[in-house]
Amino acid sequence: MIDFKALSETYGTPLYVYDFDAMRVQFESLKEAFKGRKSILAYAVKANSNLSVIKHFAQLGSGADCVSIGEVRRALMVGIPKYRILLSGVGKSDDEIREAIKADILYINVESEAELSRVEMIARELNAKARISIRVNPNIDPKTHPYISTGLHDNKFGVEIVAAKRMYIQAKNSNHLDPVGIHFHIGSQLTELEPIYEAAAIVSDLLRSLQAINIELKFFDIGGGLGVRYNDEITIQPYDYAQAILSALKGLDITIICEPGRFLTANAGYFLTKVLYEKRNGAKRFVIVDGAMNDLIRPSLYKAYHRIEALGKEGDEGPADVVGPVCESGDFLAKNYPLPAMEHNDLLVVHSAGAYGFGMGSNYNTRGRSAEIAVDGENIRLIRRRETFEDVIALEREYLEG
Ligand code: LLP
Repeated sequence: MIDFKALSETYGTPLYVYDFDAMRVQFESLKEAFKGRKSILAYAVKANSNLSVIKHFAQLGSGADCVSIGEVRRALMVGIPKYRILLSGVGKSDDEIREAIKADILYINVESEAELSRVEMIARELNAKARISIRVNPNIDPKTHPYISTGLHDNKFGVEIVAAKRMYIQAKNSNHLDPVGIHFHIGSQLTELEPIYEAAAIVSDLLRSLQAINIELKFFDIGGGLGVRYNDEITIQPYDYAQAILSALKGLDITIICEPGRFLTANAGYFLTKVLYEKRNGAKRFVIVDGAMNDLIRPSLYKAYHRIEALGKEGDEGPADVVGPVCESGDFLAKNYPLPAMEHNDLLVVHSAGAYGFGMGSNYNTRGRSAEIAVDGENIRLIRRRETFEDVIALEREYLEG
């Protein structure tokens, strides 16, 4: 059991706390599901990009799925081997493409015909052969929140099957491109297996039709997206997930690459925030806390549900909106959430905050970002210090003079 109270007293609030053992358990369970198959788990760094978190996965043998060259640098910095690093993303700059080719990472996931030509041009300049994979948009409805759905033609991601085929042929005929993989990712927080199976089946059909024209790929990249339980969702079990992918592949011998983010970190993370005040406006009850949308934006942005635990308190004073100090009506951590009577300095533990929590934070309202703590067995350590006012203004102050 993590002693949240002690942590909040030592490190202050708001505070992110990560349970490294829980991350390890998640990683091992997914690895186990693909046992006996050539596979790479490439942690989707965007879910939680703290260097110590990435290093933790590096030590478990993880690769890294990155969406900016900054994420690639993070992964390399903590020892993820270059041959397990991918660069994805719908809009890579020339500089990013250049650095990725020079760094000799496993491959670049290409998301448009224009981008393929760009990668080819840059590889030619460098006199290199760039390993690429193409992100296919299988036009499947993943049945998740529209903001995190990515596999429909309405979404900006990937290319249609026919375009993908053209691109593979172009790549195969190029001296500067080496097509090694095929990729899809239909969305995040997926709780239904059927769309994943359908997407995998569509993409593996394409894989077979490429084989028929002598384009042999080595990697089948199934993206991330495995959902987790925030409230009462029934989630997909890793074993069933792996079986669905394998059955879509129907015996094809190819290395599977999986890019899990949320599955590895969400439920291993907690956001601690202290109560400042309670108040009522008419019949409406508000619990005002020191954490805000700049720390954890998921409730405001997606109306996401995060379980909230009032530490050491009992009873139910009725539903309250848990709101932060930021000057926005959309600044809330929960709406109409049943809570006991709260007093100044009571501690709330916001659960499932380990993915897309800290990383989506900002300095809005000149709020310094929270500290982050790792709990690793008996070992508790700071993995990012709290930002000070000086940190927040550091890049501006030199321009004040004159
Ligand atoms: N691979 C690709 C190409 C992705 O776009 C993503 C997530 C992942 C892997 C990892 O997906 P995961 O396993 O974490 O579901 N901020 C949103 C989620 C955005 C996901 C973006 N892409 C949220 O807080 O729900």
